[in-house]
Amino acid sequence: MKKILLISIITSLFLSAFAQKKLDETSKNQIPDIIPFPQLVEMKAGKFEIDKKTIIVASGQDEKQIAKLLSQRIEKLSGLTLQITSKKNKSNFISLVLSQNEKLGAEGYLIKSSANSVEIEAKTTHGLFYALQTIYQVLPVEVFSINQKQKQTVFIPAMQITDNPRFSYRGMHLDVSRHFFSVEFIKKYIDILAMHKMNTFHWHLVDDQGWRIEIKKYPKLTEIGSKRINREDKPWGKRNYEITGDTTYYEGFYTQDQVKEVVRYAQERFITVVPEIEMPAHVMCAIAAYPELSCSQKQIEVPSGSVWPITEIYCAGNDFVFTFNQDVLSEIMELFPSKYIHIGGDEATKTNWEKCSKCQQRMKDENLADVHELQSYFIKRIEQFIVSKGRQLIGWDEILEGGLAPEATVMSWRGINGGIQAAKAGHDVVMTPVSHCYFDYYQNNPDGEPLAIGGYTPLKKVYDYEPIPDELTKQQAVHILGAQANLWTEYMPDGKHVEYMALPRMAALAEVVWSNKEIKNWDNFKMRMLTQFKRYEAADYNYCKTTIDALEKNK
Ligand code: ACM
Ligand code: ZN
Repeated sequence: MKKILLISIITSLFLSAFAQKKLDETSKNQIPDIIPFPQLVEMKAGKFEIDKKTIIVASGQDEKQIAKLLSQRIEKLSGLTLQITSKKNKSNFISLVLSQNEKLGAEGYLIKSSANSVEIEAKTTHGLFYALQTIYQVLPVEVFSINQKQKQTVFIPAMQITDNPRFSYRGMHLDVSRHFFSVEFIKKYIDILAMHKMNTFHWHLVDDQGWRIEIKKYPKLTEIGSKRINREDKPWGKRNYEITGDTTYYEGFYTQDQVKEVVRYAQERFITVVPEIEMPAHVMCAIAAYPELSCSQKQIEVPSGSVWPITEIYCAGNDFVFTFNQDVLSEIMELFPSKYIHIGGDEATKTNWEKCSKCQQRMKDENLADVHELQSYFIKRIEQFIVSKGRQLIGWDEILEGGLAPEATVMSWRGINGGIQAAKAGHDVVMTPVSHCYFDYYQNNPDGEPLAIGGYTPLKKVYDYEPIPDELTKQQAVHILGAQANLWTEYMPDGKHVEYMALPRMAALAEVVWSNKEIKNWDNFKMRMLTQFKRYEAADYNYCKTTIDALEKNK
């Protein structure tokens, strides 16, 4: 019974369905279907049974907070209420310990389980929280169930797991402008992120078609900017832009109290919320509320559907535009403690800047050669303000044009070149190329799928994504902080649809950003996904089921 099966990083590469079966026969201990797959899993003989005498050992406040989460889940699954105590037994305990183990990174953890005990160790509560996410995945899938209490006998297999993420930035974005989602759904989305060990929620709060956050100093942003004529009966690209006299609105925004509630909810799940406040383009909703923000200062409507090209943008020559944005960002920074503040920066068509006397004057005064340098001036001025408040600016890769702001981080979306250029110049980068990370694209043959914006990004393509471009040296590669998937919601009218587009692709991205490159294995991932689908079902997460057919056919 002492036989220990060491499943190293190397062997996990060869872990096929066949190997898994063989493992069962020899050890009676199957490698659990953990996603993202940990850095090192060693299965051992035997298992730990949770019974009514099992205690959870946690001494400090932080450990106790995590212990509570574990006991709630176990109670739901087994009906057993485990005592949380600071005193260890000789056996029959699950311990949660914060230690200074230097081998563990800020988000890493160690799980050592045997027939006698389960010992969980991490340097931070964040790490302990991830250990729990892994523990849940070795328990019956009903641990994810939204239903009432179960009465199952619960075992944790004997094993040792040493884990640590590959990248520090593991992000998921959500556009709440094109469609609006309730606080309840945002919390569900955050839960889904946490389950996948993603640590950043990029909240796209502003776009042409709706301003979605209360700003006390500028009430018209939500009074006017959060409403548009309801054209939900038509696909996004087929909505006419003319003023129709219709007064039925599609609307929604988050109050500052609701935002605080979301940020707190995310913090409890170790997720940083990065707010995005677009500028200088994708702001027609703000111009509809305050026409003085644009070059022409003409009244416009909040558009109900697609607008291209985006020419109604903030005037870069008007100082009020900077006062306005600084006021807005001041309120934003009060609400969001994140290091990063996302200022958009994408897709500005600058034809109005060419014609505007104020913009032209600014270019003369500041010695700017063209409108790209004018955009660069705009972003640099905003960066100075953000940096003066002790935060850091992040923006889409267009912020490279005309010269990057000195401390800016770049989100590379129009492919990987923006990311390469920024990393070579010593700037930090989050990779989110349209080719692999746009989850608004189809995930299967469009014939069988709900209408989407276009493109084709199936599960395998996401899984095969490598965030570090070959062109970078080791030193430059350090600037690639991680990757993120984006969910633009033009064609996602409700939360269930967002879940469908996010899942299962989020699982593939989770493994891209968490597991070391050498561990990744598509065949093994496919097999583990079959259990992941059962977890989604238990948790009432909608996911693309045609992917399951494709996976089963390929088994
Ligand atoms: C983007 O997709 N416009 C960042
Ligand atoms: Zn102007």
